[in-house]
Amino acid sequence: MADMTSDFRFDDQVVIITGAGMGLGRSHAHLFASLGAKVLVNDLGTATDGTGASTRIADAVVDEIRAAGGFAIANHDSVEQGQRLVEQALDEWGSIAVVINNAGIIRDASFHKLQLEDWLAVQRVNLEGAFRVTHAAWPHLRANRYGRVLFTASAAGIYGNFGQANYGSAKLGLHGLARSLAVEGSSRNIHVNTIAPMLDSRLLEGLMPDALRSRLRPQLVSPLAAYLCHASCRETGGLFEVGGGWYGKLRWQRSDGAALPLDRPVDIQAIADHWPAIVDFELAQCPETVEEAGRALLRNALAELESAR
Ligand code: NAI
Repeated sequence: MADMTSDFRFDDQVVIITGAGMGLGRSHAHLFASLGAKVLVNDLGTATDGTGASTRIADAVVDEIRAAGGFAIANHDSVEQGQRLVEQALDEWGSIAVVINNAGIIRDASFHKLQLEDWLAVQRVNLEGAFRVTHAAWPHLRANRYGRVLFTASAAGIYGNFGQANYGSAKLGLHGLARSLAVEGSSRNIHVNTIAPMLDSRLLEGLMPDALRSRLRPQLVSPLAAYLCHASCRETGGLFEVGGGWYGKLRWQRSDGAALPLDRPVDIQAIADHWPAIVDFELAQCPETVEEAGRALLRNALAELESAR
């Protein structure tokens, strides 16, 4: 249903959404389409482990959007062929404004049982797939001096989770990718953010009681995604946790640390002696950039340099 009253419209903006045939991506696709966007609904139609393929689910979402009066086309490629998604969007509509990297698979196994193929498959779809789609779209966003990119991470990457070494590393890798793209995109009005959602989908089957799961509606996540991808939103490089109607931002925190005198060798004992200061978060800082982080870290070396002048 079109929402003409919203202040957050996406009229005529081309939005690529990966993994948009079900779950969270489907919810994103419906929301963006209801706000006037032209949505490329990408989905390979796989099982949760990335096996199999079906064109049906992306087609069904496109049919639903069109029936409601919106604009959408289906794309059935894997995100591993990111270039194809971008080419199709450009062939159909001539531009790209927003890229939402949402497709994801899981192949859980405790680390000692994890097979290389299950490591690689999860990296290929979750991390490399998002790279490929975004990398193909990036020159167009740069040329237009406008873009909004969203990555979909996971608490498993932020906090670590048993049996998800492959998935967690790919997911936190996305935030690392987003941080650098936010720096590179800032001069061209390209904003890049990451969400770590929790929502009711097949990925949560068996992980929590059904009654609780049913309250984690994907429709509670998509408005944050759309806000972050709106022209009016200044946020970039951010990481947000979201689920069940809760929304919050994360940031890195670093202890004030210990700056040891440089006029004598630092031995292991010195590290042990200063351990309380090294891990003390009482005066924690939250550096936002490599430069800011480096200044504090290099304070001893810089002071020594200064006094040597
Ligand atoms: P889902 O399994 O319902 O949807 C994922 C979609 O991605 C499926 O439609 C699937 O066909 C598609 N897909 C898989 N491989 C693909 C490929 N190579 N190319 C194109 N499409 C592909 O999962 P859900 O829950 O909607 O997940 C959405 C995103 O949120 C995923 O990245 C997931 O890892 C992430 N996430 C979900 C959580 C949850 O609580 N459900 C928790 C944390 C992160």
